[in-house]
Amino acid sequence: MADPKKLFIKTYGCQMNVYDSERMAEAMGTDGYVTTDTAEDADMVLLNTCHIREKAGQKLYSDLGRLRALKDAKPGMKIGVAGCVAQAEGAEITRRMPIVDLVVGPQSYHRLPEMARAGGQQVNTEFPAEDKFDLLPERKATRGPAAFLTVQEGCDKFCAFCVVPYTRGAEVSRPAQRILTEARGLVEKGVRDITLLGQNVNAYHGGGGGEGGGGDWTLSRLIRELARIDGLQRIRYTTSHPNDMDDDLIAAHGDEPKLMPYLHLPVQSGSDRILKAMNRKHTAEAYLRLIERIRAARPDILLSSDFIVGFPGETDRDFEDTLDLIRAVGYGAAYSFKYSARPGTPAAEKPEIDSHVADARLQTLQALITEQQRAVQAAMVGREVGVLYEKPGRNAGQMIGKSDHLHAVHVDDATGTVGELVRVRISASSSNSLAGERIS
Ligand code: 5AD
Ligand code: SF4
Repeated sequence: MADPKKLFIKTYGCQMNVYDSERMAEAMGTDGYVTTDTAEDADMVLLNTCHIREKAGQKLYSDLGRLRALKDAKPGMKIGVAGCVAQAEGAEITRRMPIVDLVVGPQSYHRLPEMARAGGQQVNTEFPAEDKFDLLPERKATRGPAAFLTVQEGCDKFCAFCVVPYTRGAEVSRPAQRILTEARGLVEKGVRDITLLGQNVNAYHGGGGGEGGGGDWTLSRLIRELARIDGLQRIRYTTSHPNDMDDDLIAAHGDEPKLMPYLHLPVQSGSDRILKAMNRKHTAEAYLRLIERIRAARPDILLSSDFIVGFPGETDRDFEDTLDLIRAVGYGAAYSFKYSARPGTPAAEKPEIDSHVADARLQTLQALITEQQRAVQAAMVGREVGVLYEKPGRNAGQMIGKSDHLHAVHVDDATGTVGELVRVRISASSSNSLAGERIS
């Protein structure tokens, strides 16, 4: 038998892309491709791109520049571009970079194998009527005991800075039964921890059967049903919008033991003026009250957020309001970004603020977040937490896993195995991980 063809996928951006990359690898698997870790020995290189900030888009072109030499040396090699830059730029990519054979958007990647077979340059950025999830092969469990599962795609929120509603399209929820089937399949393959993904996951409104979105299933109902699957031990979800945190979802954080005490709830800014300009449709005060309710349901929940600094019109006062909000919440983690004007978004029409001012604000904000993240981590010392072993550590007899709060934890445990969920007493906190002793 001939050697299998090799596929190298590079994934940029968010967890939804990580999930899509796994599914594209599985789709190409049906055509005899196996994945490889280097572009050099690949027969096909697929770049799964992100369009959220300008820098992310630029990376695609610098990577394609580097791949040119590789393709010159190996003319049969196929190069594909997937993801949100593919969606946004389409045939512009093949024009600018003739070495690219395939351009495929996030809604049509189930067609990738037939596009690759057809040969020549192929571009597909449709939002086809069929559901790609119905046509993709069954899942594998490639990331060990923790897996992502996309339940919702697209976004109807239209934050003034964001390209997602344009690249990923309108909000669509997958039918609940299909998600439950996919989850059961993953658990049969050894998955113990599932993170439900969506651009705006807590807006999930799926139908029960095969009828697609707009149904009466909410995210909390889906979580409660998933929690009944034997062998599934942990559930998380990301990313959420504050305005879609309904009462039952908040209640689930208090009464559903499998729902982990970690919540990524982006606020972007702490200034009401900027929140309004961003079209976020809530105030800083409303966000703080929401956090109080979530903490009342689950006092030890670890909170995380996204922040944008330097949004058009942001003054020192607005920025101080953001720092005040961060101080009031006390985050365990956060992602922060300098505003990047995205073509086609309403905010891109507005004059930008001084880039150096934005850089300085970003540094200040990140220093505050780092301080809070360290404090939250240090406060774990002495506590007992669950840890799901994901891989052996660097030292012999050591296991590494994630805690309930998503901290990386090193445990000395010579008999521990990957996929085991154990109780651990945390004994030390270093800059970005914890150490502890197994107690069960
Ligand atoms: N500039 C900077 N950051 C952005 N984000 C989204 N769009 C932009 C932009 N134009 C950030 C937001 C969002 C995260 C995924 O990326 O904080 O929550
Ligand atoms: Fe973008 Fe999130 Fe706003 Fe939707 S809710 S427009 S994905 S930032």
